[in-house]
This record gives sequence, structure tokens and C-alpha cells, in this order.
Amino acid sequence: MSSTVETLSKKLSWLPPGLSRWMERRMKSIPALRKMVEKEQEDITATLEHSLKPYHNTFERHKILPKQGIERGKIMDDIRKMHELESSRWQEGYVSGGIYHGDAEHIKFLNEVYALHSQSNPLHSDLFPSATKMEAEIVSMVATMLGKGQTTDNKDVVGTVTSGGTESILLAMKTYRDRALEEKGIEYPEMIVATTAHAAFDKASQYFGIKMVRVGIDENFRMNVKEAKQAINRNTIVIVGSAPTFPHGAIDPIKELSDLALANDIGFHTDCCLGGFVIPFAEKAGINVPIVDFRLPGVTSISVDTHKYGYAAKGTSVILYRGESLRHFQFYTITDWPGGLYFSPTLAGSRPGALSAACWASLLSMGEDGYTKASKSIVETANQIKAGIKTIPELKLFGDPLFVIAFGSDTVNVYEVLDQMTNRKWNLNGLHKPSCVHIAVTLRHTQPGVAERFISDLRDSVEYVKANPGNKEGSAPVYGMAASLPFRGMVSDILKKYLDVVYKA
Ligand SMILES: Cc1ncc(COP(=O)(O)O)c(C=O)c1O
Repeated sequence: MSSTVETLSKKLSWLPPGLSRWMERRMKSIPALRKMVEKEQEDITATLEHSLKPYHNTFERHKILPKQGIERGKIMDDIRKMHELESSRWQEGYVSGGIYHGDAEHIKFLNEVYALHSQSNPLHSDLFPSATKMEAEIVSMVATMLGKGQTTDNKDVVGTVTSGGTESILLAMKTYRDRALEEKGIEYPEMIVATTAHAAFDKASQYFGIKMVRVGIDENFRMNVKEAKQAINRNTIVIVGSAPTFPHGAIDPIKELSDLALANDIGFHTDCCLGGFVIPFAEKAGINVPIVDFRLPGVTSISVDTHKYGYAAKGTSVILYRGESLRHFQFYTITDWPGGLYFSPTLAGSRPGALSAACWASLLSMGEDGYTKASKSIVETANQIKAGIKTIPELKLFGDPLFVIAFGSDTVNVYEVLDQMTNRKWNLNGLHKPSCVHIAVTLRHTQPGVAERFISDLRDSVEYVKANPGNKEGSAPVYGMAASLPFRGMVSDILKKYLDVVYKA
């Protein structure tokens, strides 16, 4: 992909930067230019297929249903082989985020729970009252971690189980949109979000027609409160803060922002997808962390991911609200459908009760003490990694994060450092605007020797890049060229091509 983006970028370098979508469409209607773009996109697809489909030549491909069912043992063999090929990197702690617990015994336990409940569907509460019990208790346990029973206005904290952080965020934004229309008649709703807030908010803006007002960050990568204040107008329905942000792990000034929202009678959402299971337990462990939850009077909703630091299997999150009346704007009901009286709490209809069962089991088996110990060791490991990064003069740490650590450089190309880390088996996240790399510290990194290995590999990677700058392969050229492409829509088209390839059998 890198060389193709590079070629494309060079060919289009005569165009001025920052072309509008309209200009871009006009330019692409020029036949020669369109042909060139199409040709480049074909090349991209071919390059991507090679890197995204490593099993093409090693496992049989099934583009259509087998005429006769394949023997279960043979299917299991293939599944096991792929699992083995993919596990060692995360098991040994080479991956940023991704797998948050990863201990074999914990996984085995969750899998047993899943297997028992694999047919369960919370949509059919009459058939599966266990799913209803478990989901209600998940919400109650998570709400209590985040201020239920301690609100200054004595309001209850309620919520629902969702499929992940993105769904929790989508639902919250839809909820504010619908409340604003019904209670205030707001037809052109706006949300105020930092540039560093998760992409899920942009998705909510696109899906639900809510205008996104982006505000900047301060020198510590935290949302700028002054800019947020200036952005409020009579169409504002919600302000969003993150605890912490995905890119730099910064905890936005939640108290100041939620006070601002309260004073202006608008909603405030804390995105605790990453921090919801770390911050409250770090507080219990005596670590100095800010309050980001419903104990603050202005916080009206929180997204918190059980499938991240809650250590559940992938596919669950919780969205919480201050009070049932706000939650009502999330619920869907239809009263005159021939299929019967229909209602559902979240985006999906039928849902995997087994994932809720595994989530419930994870919460119970970890308990308060388990999460407190986990948070303490994650923060300690993060401190060790931060201290190590500070000893590498070419690198600079971004802000003062708790457990998601971003670093950049003024002297070496940080994406080349990222590529060198990849060569050393690491799987870290490359970020841009500004250019940096991050590692989300998980329980995998608290294993003996992992933090030391990270720092030593990072030091070696920086030394290598200093001695051999200008790598032509890997992510460095992609980030460089993607930033310089005059057509932003074209970058977007390339990403869509990527997804086309993902779904090519
Ligand atoms: C701060 C934050 N919010 C939201 C999300 C979205 O979560 P998901 O990927 O589960 O949809 C993430 C994911 O990393 C996140 O870090």
C-alpha cells in the first residue's frame, strides 16, 4: 500500500492542498485523471490483498457453501491452526490494547460460560430470564462503580448493555438528539467534542445528523474548556469529554466541562470506554486520579467498556444515564406493527445472551479486589514505561497519561520507529495530527520482563532509525503520503477499498 500511496501522492503533487469535496469531484470527472485514480486504486487492492489475506495459499478457501457438510473435526483443525498462528503476539504482551486480560484460565472460564449460554437471546426475556437477570446486574454493578448511590441530586443511575464502545456512544448521542427535539424543539442539534474524542462521535454525527463542533486541546492534550464554552449555542445538545482519550490517554477536565454543561442546561457525556474500569479502581488503590463519574452533578451519561478493562469477551459495553427519563429516549418501541408489540433497548434486535453471561461472569470473578489489583499493576507498569521513554532523548512523551502512553519525536521519524518496533514483533498504534505512536498498557504488559523488553526494543529502534533514516517500506511512507494527498476524499476512498478487500473471500 505504501508505494502506491507514494506514487499517487507524487502524481498529484501539483494540486493545491485542502481541496473541497466539490472541487475533488469536479477534478475526478476529468477522464485522464479519473483513469489514473482508478488504476492506482486497482494497484492498491492488489497490494492489500497480499498483506490482508495471508491464509490464501495455506488454508482452503470457501467462496460457496460446500456441497456436503465438512466433518467437524477437520473444521476444528483449521480453526485451531489459525488460532495458534495468531495468539503468540498478544499472549506474550507485544500488543497495544486489543487483548486486555489474556490469562489462559480467565479465557477458559469465559468460554465455558459462553458455551452454556450460546443459544440465549435477551430479546426473548420469557425464554431466557437468566439473560435479563445478568444484564440488569451488569448495569447495576458498573453503575455503582461510577457513582450510582452517590449522586448529589439523588437521581438513580441506569443503563443498558450494548455491543461495544461505539454502540454505547451512538446510543447516547441519539438519546440527546431525541430529548433535545422533544423537550426543547431543537431541530439542528450540535455536539461539542474535542478533536481527540473517539471517531465513534463522528460516526454518531454522520448517522444521526448531529452537527459536530470540534474544539482544540491544551498543551497537555486535554480538551480546551475555554473553547468549549465559546462553542455553546442554542442548538447545543451535549458536551463530550473523554477519560481518557484514545490517542494520547489524556483525561479531559471532566469536572470543569460537566459544570459548564450543567450551567447551560445541556447534557454531558463522559467517554469512559477505556478508563471506566481503571480510574475508579486506581482511586481505590490510593492513586491520585480525578473524579469523572456521576458523583459530578453535571455528568448525565457515561460509556464504559466491559470488553476492554472489564476483561469480558469481545462484544459488550455499558451505556449509563442519570435517571430513567433520559434513558427512555434511547429505547425503541413500535405499537402497530403486524409482528406484534415490539420494543428493544439498543441498536440490535436479537442479541448474544452468551456474551452478556460471559461479561457477568467476568465482573463476578474479578470482583472489586481483582480490578483494584489489576488497575494498580497497570498504572505501575505504565509508570515504568513512561520513565523508560523519558530516558530516550530523541523521544518526547505526550502529556502525563495514566495508562495509554503516546510519544513523538522532533529528531527522528516516529513512524519509522514504529516500523522498527513492528520488526521486533510489537503491534503498536500509529497516530497522526500530531505524528505519534501509542501503547495502551494492559495486564499483558504487567507480566515480568515485558516493560523492560518494550523499553529496550524502543531504544534499539530509535538507534536504528537514527543510523538508517528514510525507510521506504512500512507505515512511515503511508502516513507521510496520506498527509500530503491533496484529495482528502481520495484518502477516504482508499480506506473504503481497504474494507472491500477485507470482505473479499
Ligand atoms: C476512548 C474510546 N472511546 C470509544 C471507543 C470505541 O470502542 P469500540 O471499539 O469498543 O467500539 C474506544 C476504542 O478504543 C476508545 O478508546
